[in-house]
Amino acid sequence: EQDILGKLPLRGKKILITAGPTYEAIDPVRFIGNHSSGKMGFEIAKASANLGAEVVLISGPTHQKVSHSLINVVPVVSAADMYNAVHEHFNTVDVAVLSAAVADFTPKEVSNQKIKKKSDTLTLELGRTKDILASLGDIKTSQYLVGFALETNNELENAKGKLKRKNLNLIVLNSLNDKGAGFKGDTNKVTFIDDAGNITENSLKSKADVAIDLLNKIIENIHA
Ligand code: CTP
Ligand code: CA
Repeated sequence: EQDILGKLPLRGKKILITAGPTYEAIDPVRFIGNHSSGKMGFEIAKASANLGAEVVLISGPTHQKVSHSLINVVPVVSAADMYNAVHEHFNTVDVAVLSAAVADFTPKEVSNQKIKKKSDTLTLELGRTKDILASLGDIKTSQYLVGFALETNNELENAKGKLKRKNLNLIVLNSLNDKGAGFKGDTNKVTFIDDAGNITENSLKSKADVAIDLLNKIIENIHA
């Protein structure tokens, strides 16, 4: 087990983590999804448990596996399912880290039957999903709230905007311009921006090591 200060720094703390993509149903056999592997969120869950925290890991569909006495995995499918599961647990936790790649849009109507290829084109109408992270920023009391930002341009500016708009304590910027970074692979390169204005740039590392850096940052800020 990880043991930074000669003890388990997160013992007695409870952490909620979201991970993976969401799947938005189109009909009984089809969905809109994304390429998130869930790896980053699962690594954050493992690192949290190794530091002594009790973990609620709310995950969309992934191939990730974890088995740890301190990790309770709550599987969900859609953005709406994830919203409900997160709100069921949020008032019991000390820290929430929302790393899931939640769909921003979902089909307005789900067909009960498989859609047949009757015509040459198909138009789907999509409506906005609820922003889970922003909804927690609105209701949080003492929870330390951490979000992610996936950006391709104006990265720092956009991430700072999300930190403020969603009332976060910390945001993890994932720049898709950095090689080896993002939500698909085994490595990541991230920048931490906190609500005191501290910016920490990190080098490219394994997602397991990024998770440890993130938890160290959270622990440092909680204690500050
Ligand atoms: N998020 C969420 N619920 C949503 C959409 C996003 O909880 N419906 C969270 C993600 O888990 C992430 C953060 O919001 O922690 C930022 O996600 P991102 O896609 O980078 O930003 P958005 O606010 O969705 O804005 P946009 O995609 O337009 O950049
Ligand atoms: Ca989004």
